[in-house]
Amino acid sequence: MTKICVVGAGNMGAGIAQRCSQSGFAVSMVDIKEEFVKKGFDSIRRTLDEGVKRGKVKPEQVDAIIKNIHGTIDLKEASADADLVIEAVFEDMEIKKKLFADLDKFCKPDAILATNTSSLSVNEMAAVTSRPVKFAGLHFFYPAAINQLIEVIPGDKTAPDVISKLIDVSRLLGKLPITVKDAPGFAVNRYFVPFLNEAVKMLDEGVATMATIEESAKKSLQISMGPFELMNATGVQIAYHAQESLHKALGQFYRPANGLQKQFESGQKWTISGTVELEKMDKVGERFLGMLFTIALHLVDEGIATKEAVERGATVGLRWKLGPFAMMNEIGIEKSLHIVERFCQSSGLKVPGVLVRQAESKKPWYLRSVQTSREGSLGIITVDRPDSLNALNSKVLTDLGEAVDNLAKDEAVKVVMVTGEGGAFVAGADIKEMIVKTPLEARDFTYFGQSVLKKLEDMEKVSIAAVNGYALGGGLELALSCDLIVAADGARFGLPEVTLGIHPGFGGTQRLSRQVGKAKAKELIYTGSMIDAKEAERIGLVNKVVPRDRLYEEVKKLADKIAANGPVAVKLAKAAINRGTEVDLVTGLAYEVETISLCFSTEDKNEGMGAFIEKRKPQFKGK
Ligand code: COA
Repeated sequence: MTKICVVGAGNMGAGIAQRCSQSGFAVSMVDIKEEFVKKGFDSIRRTLDEGVKRGKVKPEQVDAIIKNIHGTIDLKEASADADLVIEAVFEDMEIKKKLFADLDKFCKPDAILATNTSSLSVNEMAAVTSRPVKFAGLHFFYPAAINQLIEVIPGDKTAPDVISKLIDVSRLLGKLPITVKDAPGFAVNRYFVPFLNEAVKMLDEGVATMATIEESAKKSLQISMGPFELMNATGVQIAYHAQESLHKALGQFYRPANGLQKQFESGQKWTISGTVELEKMDKVGERFLGMLFTIALHLVDEGIATKEAVERGATVGLRWKLGPFAMMNEIGIEKSLHIVERFCQSSGLKVPGVLVRQAESKKPWYLRSVQTSREGSLGIITVDRPDSLNALNSKVLTDLGEAVDNLAKDEAVKVVMVTGEGGAFVAGADIKEMIVKTPLEARDFTYFGQSVLKKLEDMEKVSIAAVNGYALGGGLELALSCDLIVAADGARFGLPEVTLGIHPGFGGTQRLSRQVGKAKAKELIYTGSMIDAKEAERIGLVNKVVPRDRLYEEVKKLADKIAANGPVAVKLAKAAINRGTEVDLVTGLAYEVETISLCFSTEDKNEGMGAFIEKRKPQFKGK
């Protein structure tokens, strides 16, 4: 995927175009009038100039980023050779449908069409095109060039490989994608907009002064801006329209507060007034929490998003300190249930079953730091702690072990890919957790880390590390526990432990020397130096280096090639290599005799050899 067309040069469209250009895609940005296109470029320049001031963008990059965006008012010309079109026009279903019907005619047959809608149905838009399999939602958050959250929304007919491409593209754009079902408000606006509305409802009902409501929201949700200040910053009319669209789709509870409607009609911002009534703070705060928890739980109950996705929506998209599930853990699950029950009683919403069950278990919410998924026969393990560059702490190791166990027993999985969320693969064991460990605790931690990586190494399925960035310390040791390593061209490798006054403990001193020879291993371990992907390939540490934008595609190709072969033969070959290289040659050869003999007892051997003789493709059954 090399060319992206962004339709709409408003705030969101311009931000998306900038981000795409900054990430190296060729971009066209189209709008209906020259002056709108010009405004889009002005806003991009302003954002980039600010980036230069804050040291985030190099001055010489500004012109290059802008030059890489082709501005036009000709939709056909802008979209004809695009691989992906992202629509970011006004939130009006009829306008969007007309636009997508046109794009469907103008675009290449294999182009993917995506909408940046924050509230409208993806399925309804997909239905006007001849390619609903290549249609999805790609919802950016304001400011689109900077905010790392992106909601990837499959429609009912979107092909899984299209979603995985959109997730890859999102990552190339430097985003942290969450996958969300096509449902009103998706995973963030479903509770964020009602949070604003709830503030106005309380004002309408005379529950407290505006100042009290503002302060209670900040205190109870641990956020820096209250709902009225937020509406003033992002637009009262946007809050009203978004609430109205939730109301139409979801019913009475979501009806815009009278005060919100009036404020929208007045065209004015809120004037925050009144004094803070300390005695009312807890009551107001509890109502905000009740509303937030209830809706967040409905998202999970209804299968719209996982709790981890809801958390990321809040902490990354809204930049809240905690997401709703972490807040419930902080408050306590039982107390959270009481808060939710009280809120549901007064609002008429349903008490979410998932919370009742959690309270019965008497356990806090478990928020996974490793995600697993499956694409065909490829199992995917993603270490998902991007704010710490996926550093391995005890929780990540526990989740990693569980992910390996689950994929190992999943019969549909033939090959497992291990990768990291965000810009890094894994930047080592967690130094912040390790610094306070006593020698005995460090011993337990090291044993535990080793046991998890050994489990990965010993898994009967083939594993491939897809190294997307830093693979340092425990990260390199994790990659070394996989059968194969494919690296993105920008990846960096190293065992920097000696620079911290320790040495590698998750198998680095052993596996690295076995992989690249003692001399190179000693050099890397004693100096703690980092090497780039090319050097890693040269010394035999990685199998292949590929451009970053082709990393997952290349790994999937490799995985498909392996998965097409006799599964028992591949499994036994893995055992023969892994066991054989740990013993003397005579014992290794004897082991090989036994494993190949076992192959001769399989149906797959008859199928493989029979297919060769009959000049056809074999159909292996793994038996
Ligand atoms: N353990 C704990 N936290 C880690 C970590 C690790 N191994 N590696 C990175 N992080 C955290 C950083 O502390 C930082 O958190 P903060 O935002 O709360 O300060 C965050 O991840 C981002 O890292 P940062 O150092 O700001 O990114 P960078 O791009 O400037 O540098 C590295 C990237 C990888 C060079 C640098 O993070 C590093 O040297 N990490 C440690 C590598 C290491 O020694 N690993 C072996 C551990 S045994």
